[in-house]
Amino acid sequence: MTLPTQYEFIRIPEEDRLRIEEEHTRLATFLRDLRNTCSEFESRQDCHDCGSEKTSSCQGRLASFQFDLLDMVAQHYENEENIMRNNLATPDDDRIFRSHQAEHARILDNIRKKLIRESSAINRQGNTAAAIRLLYEGMVTIFEAHENEFYFVLPKSANIQKDA
Ligand SMILES: [Fe+2]
Repeated sequence: MTLPTQYEFIRIPEEDRLRIEEEHTRLATFLRDLRNTCSEFESRQDCHDCGSEKTSSCQGRLASFQFDLLDMVAQHYENEENIMRNNLATPDDDRIFRSHQAEHARILDNIRKKLIRESSAINRQGNTAAAIRLLYEGMVTIFEAHENEFYFVLPKSANIQKDA
């Protein structure tokens, strides 16, 4: 299969490629933990069937996920960009690198200004289950779109799927 930016991976030294994959796995685990916080994730119900203790614990966990998410993704993109920057060989590499970098900036902006704000607003209204779903599904959508465009944001093996 020929993907537009597949060459980026091929030219990256093995140890750097493994490092990126490790970070992708860490992000996948982070999202799975977020998802598993909510007992009603599959049922798509609200927090009605959970006691107040469980609901408060979910609220606290969501806040900490929100806090860590941006840092984690920003750090990962910085590492990924440094690795790519060190492996640019042709003007074409440079052009694709710049558009990849611009897309990272757009994604971080989107997480900060839209996703986290919207999930916080829903959480404040008392529907923590919906707030967790919104954050999780928003991140999966963002990562899937980025992977389709730039090939390697999350390896398929990370097994992040919306409906799995
Ligand atoms: Fe990327």
